[in-house]
Amino acid sequence: MHRALALARRGSLKVSPNPMVGAVIVKNSHIIGKGYHKSYGGNHAEVEAINSVKDKEDLKGSTMYVTLEPCNHVGKTNPCVKSIIDAKISKVFISMLDPNKEVKGGGAKELEKGKVKVEIGCMEKESRELNHIWLYSLSHKVPFLLLKLGVSLDSKIAYSREKSSSVRLTNSRSLWQVQKLRKFYSNVLVGSNTIKIDNARLNYRLSDSNLNPRAIIIDSNLSTSLSSLVYSKEFSREVIVIASKNVDKDRIKKFEENKIDLILVNSLNNKLDLKEAFKELYKRNIRGILSEGGSRLSSSLFKEKLVSRFLLYRAPKIIGEKGVNLFDFKFYNFNNRLDIKLLKNGRIKDDTFSLYDINYL
Ligand SMILES: NC(=O)c1ccc[n+]([C@@H]2O[C@H](COP(=O)([O-])OP(=O)(O)OC[C@H]3O[C@@H](n4cnc5c(N)ncnc54)[C@H](OP(=O)(O)O)[C@@H]3O)[C@@H](O)[C@H]2O)c1
Repeated sequence: MHRALALARRGSLKVSPNPMVGAVIVKNSHIIGKGYHKSYGGNHAEVEAINSVKDKEDLKGSTMYVTLEPCNHVGKTNPCVKSIIDAKISKVFISMLDPNKEVKGGGAKELEKGKVKVEIGCMEKESRELNHIWLYSLSHKVPFLLLKLGVSLDSKIAYSREKSSSVRLTNSRSLWQVQKLRKFYSNVLVGSNTIKIDNARLNYRLSDSNLNPRAIIIDSNLSTSLSSLVYSKEFSREVIVIASKNVDKDRIKKFEENKIDLILVNSLNNKLDLKEAFKELYKRNIRGILSEGGSRLSSSLFKEKLVSRFLLYRAPKIIGEKGVNLFDFKFYNFNNRLDIKLLKNGRIKDDTFSLYDINYL
């Protein structure tokens, strides 16, 4: 199963909104076949593994290890259970059941009906972690959100809300790690102020510019300038701006002329309804988002229960009272409505980081 999980990971960035899945076929203690789900709409891992075995006779009496329950329905491809039964594979280890309502244990039952022995739960924790974005978005019908923020020792996220500072808060290694997250999530979210103040590009700077993430900007009145770097054609990527339904029609036209995708949502107390926006993003097959916005957007995301994980970098700097506070929770009292668990922490040169799992009670 370890090998099957490693294979599954190769589908990262290519299979969304599908899960990453890997499969390995073993006979007489030797791996005779392996495969993984390579692209959305492409063959499933089980079929790839079966196809990788040249002599189909070898499949008789073999054992398959697969990271997700094989499907028993016709979707973009034929049902995998049929291919497994037809190949006369005698046992299947399934790491986790598929929560999709079309499958949900049906694949495992169908295999048993076809006289294939089934064992469920091998390395299930690892499989769930591998596909945590897919699992979360499937059950909540909104994208999984990792909220990232960098702060000083006195918990300020910036030197001022009026102008950008040329002094970086966190070190270059921490920034490099965030670049990798941009690649992994392939969707980066910010509020309008981060565009106005920092002129953030939100691109991927480590290598291939084709990997630039999709930029998602929360901008109620379409008040960000179209000459902002984030809208530059140079980055050849999709930009979605979320704005109010009451926004000026001329502004809409200008954005549309620049091939910027708009999602118009309702406003609540002069702020965009982020839940409505997230439901729309889910409908557009967006499953994982990295938020790199400022304190206003971050606070609202917490209030709206949209933060799934929170990544906080802390740099050895002190900014003082003119700085921008980490959160803007003035009018809200969380009481004990949040269950926060530390998943990981560490140090990157002089910076530290903590990754938290967020659950709402
Ligand atoms: N250290 C870090 O990790 C980090 C990261 C990002 C930014 N920053 C810094 O943070 C500062 C900007 O922070 P910020 O808090 O002012 O900006 P922000 O969170 O990026 O953007 C806030 C803006 O988003 C819009 N918005 C629309 N609906 C909203 C909703 N439901 N909730 C919240 N905002 C909504 C509002 O503007 P409209 O009315 O125009 O829609 C609001 O003013 C900058 O100085 C930047 O350098 C630091």
